[in-house]
Amino acid sequence: MNEEVIAKQAYYSLIKGEGFNKDFNNILLKALDSVSDGISFCDKDGYLLYVNNACCEILGTNKEEILNKKVDTLSPDKPMLMEVIEKKKSIIDVEYFWNFEGKRTHLINSGYPIIDEEGNVLGAIDIFRSIERSRELANTIAGHQAFFMFHDIVGEDSRLKEVINLAKIFSKSDESILIFGETGTGKELFAQSIHNYSNRKAKPFVALNCANLPNELIDSELFGYEEGAFTGARKGGRPGKFELANGGTLFLDELGEMQIHIQAKLLRVLETMCINRIGGNKPISVDVRIIAATNKRLEDLVEEGKFRRDLYYRLKVLFLEVPPLRERGEDVAMLADYFLKKLASKGNKHIKGISSRAKEMLTVHNWQGNVRELENTISRSMFICEGDLITEETLIMAGLKETDYEEVVRKDSIKINRSILIDTLKLAKGNKKKAAEILGISRPTLYKFIKKYNL
Ligand SMILES: Nc1ncnc2c1ncn2[C@@H]1O[C@H](COP(=O)(O)OP(=O)(O)OP(=O)(O)O)[C@@H](O)[C@H]1O
Ligand SMILES: [Mg+2]
Repeated sequence: MNEEVIAKQAYYSLIKGEGFNKDFNNILLKALDSVSDGISFCDKDGYLLYVNNACCEILGTNKEEILNKKVDTLSPDKPMLMEVIEKKKSIIDVEYFWNFEGKRTHLINSGYPIIDEEGNVLGAIDIFRSIERSRELANTIAGHQAFFMFHDIVGEDSRLKEVINLAKIFSKSDESILIFGETGTGKELFAQSIHNYSNRKAKPFVALNCANLPNELIDSELFGYEEGAFTGARKGGRPGKFELANGGTLFLDELGEMQIHIQAKLLRVLETMCINRIGGNKPISVDVRIIAATNKRLEDLVEEGKFRRDLYYRLKVLFLEVPPLRERGEDVAMLADYFLKKLASKGNKHIKGISSRAKEMLTVHNWQGNVRELENTISRSMFICEGDLITEETLIMAGLKETDYEEVVRKDSIKINRSILIDTLKLAKGNKKKAAEILGISRPTLYKFIKKYNL
């Protein structure tokens, strides 16, 4: 039996004294008092005949205060129950603000008329819940959750480790965080891990990609709109990402793409923690932690007049820079093994590993698309590979070009010849990290030379 049926039956039984004995009535009353949705009935003139416990809790009142009162004397706005009675029609799941004794409660409300066999309205039933509970449910269904944690971030590179440590410290504050990094470096992975490491982990993680939407839509996506705000606005209005993320984290991806006038609004929200829906005049307070990501240097955009300086200063306090994959040395091979294992568990079980020459080739590649490109390369290679080992040939067939390697080596070979390299390696006692430092080149470049000179 759903709540509407229980409530209707209770109306007939309790109010009209029909059908059931006293014991059953008591059970019914207890049943209504144990649900967490607010339930009330009124008669055809709008006098409240019944309210359950949850109704009083949600509205912040008690039974004595509202029972037998006329609903339209309890709120300055027209109560939904009066509309249901007038129109003899149900109104289902609409957003509703109940103003009572100076307190404003934000609800999702449904009203149903009670009509007898002759078609006369006897009264109406109201069933409602707080907006927070409805949102939690919506978030669960819509998948507003973060899946990744810090331990999912694969890599031993010291710069990456530093960023992880810093990100863990930042997780504990409520300040906005700005993550910078080339495409595919793992910015979203970081954003989700931060959320899951923070006190907000049980609350929603809502993401908005500022590059995927035209700017007019970003506005309504972020702040929501009221019914009738513009042509095509949905009946009952719609909450924006800020409201959906309430209590949790809002991840603004590709923030550099956001237009200046929306940046101004965003800054205002960060300062006041209050939003105004488009076409609305009631400010709604929110508690949201912002994590923004960009692959463009915002300071350059500020110089070009495309990004507000004040917003940039506000966001850059907690700043994380995820290093590009080409600068993470041995992490490339480690990630390649990791993706191989991950993908093998989803099929492709015949592939046992990656040859050491192939790993070298991966290590010296330029990785413009960073970890995402590496993952795709491994995935394609596994698909193409006929033997049980991914080799250089497999990688080339999978689209990895050798040209990068040649170019990098040619550019630097003016200053590094074979004997310099041998001397430096001796000096560094074979420690490649140190040798690279002495020569002033990155570790992957060093590997390229070792390969070039067959050392
Ligand atoms: N260190 C890592 N360990 C494991 N997987 C990673 C790592 N870094 C990135 N990935 C994976 O690489 C892919 C790209 O990562 P992500 O989407 O976080 O990058 P991004 O920086 O947000 O890229 P873009 O700027 O293009 O949006 C994802 O599938 C992610 O899981
Ligand atoms: Mg991303």
